[in-house]
Amino acid sequence: MKATARANVNIALIKYWGKRDEELILPTNNSLSLTLDGLYTTTTVHFENHLTKDVFYLNNEQIVGTAYKRVTSFLDIIRQKANKENLYAKVVSTNEVPTAAGFASSASGFAALAAASTRAIGLHLTDKELSRITRRGSGSACRSIYGGFAEWQMGSHPDGTDSYAVQIAPQNHWDLCVAAVILSANKKKLSSREGMRRTVETSPFFTGWTNSIPRDLKQIKSGILARDIEKVGEISEANCLKMHATMLGAKPPFTYWQDSTLAVMHKIQMMRKDGIPAYFTIDAGPNVKVIYEPEYEEEIRERLKHLSYVEEIICCRAGSGITYL
Ligand code: PMV
Repeated sequence: MKATARANVNIALIKYWGKRDEELILPTNNSLSLTLDGLYTTTTVHFENHLTKDVFYLNNEQIVGTAYKRVTSFLDIIRQKANKENLYAKVVSTNEVPTAAGFASSASGFAALAAASTRAIGLHLTDKELSRITRRGSGSACRSIYGGFAEWQMGSHPDGTDSYAVQIAPQNHWDLCVAAVILSANKKKLSSREGMRRTVETSPFFTGWTNSIPRDLKQIKSGILARDIEKVGEISEANCLKMHATMLGAKPPFTYWQDSTLAVMHKIQMMRKDGIPAYFTIDAGPNVKVIYEPEYEEEIRERLKHLSYVEEIICCRAGSGITYL
């Protein structure tokens, strides 16, 4: 009744932005990501008969409150599926994702929790089944089951049975890199959950966003298969800008950008003028992620590291899916 799993974070090139069902975490569009190496969560789940409730430790600290509630609510789903409703677990996690990095550590966190808990309780799931259940913890986490490039298919069934991720290309298909340019350690003001809700409910640009996804997906998939950095970079950057534009149209409007976010975006566009194929993407926070191929890593780092508003640059390659330890 004990298992340990490790999951990497992923970065969306085609973003997930909007839910059609908040309880089941069903999205309003397909999304596509690259799983990264080096930024991961390792989780051990031990179901024990003597426990009367779940306990959760993260980085050697016992967690209570909202984060604890999210973990136990997720374990309730696993218990129900395994028909073991009165069995509680000790969950021990370590996060190798700097919280300031602006990578959703919830993605690696829930992917590792889902893999370890389902295995510990004796469920034998396919990747597809694991991805589907991981989605209930955090939407973007369902893509971290796979290495390399993964697409979360939104599905159409109201019960969510057809909403899960599939692999588009494995880790070794293409040595694509992503660098996180860390600008601020401030906690983000609006959660992605809140931001999505407000956008779906009030932004007149939201339908434009969802309507544009199928074309972006079709093109980026052919770009990924052809290892075409220009195509993949251009589509990723434009898709990210469209997602952030929906927020400016919301009521009240909001943005995750700060001055330095715009400054880095501008720097990256200037690099392209100088012949460096670098592109950006940004999630629900101020930090910028740069997309590039390995031979340009040093040059990109050089051009960004001396800027006063850049705190740190974390360079990552394509990573693997779930591993059991
Ligand atoms: O899964 P969540 O609730 O952390 O939402 C993630 C949303 C974005 O990071 C902005 C986009 C994405 O697809 O990862």
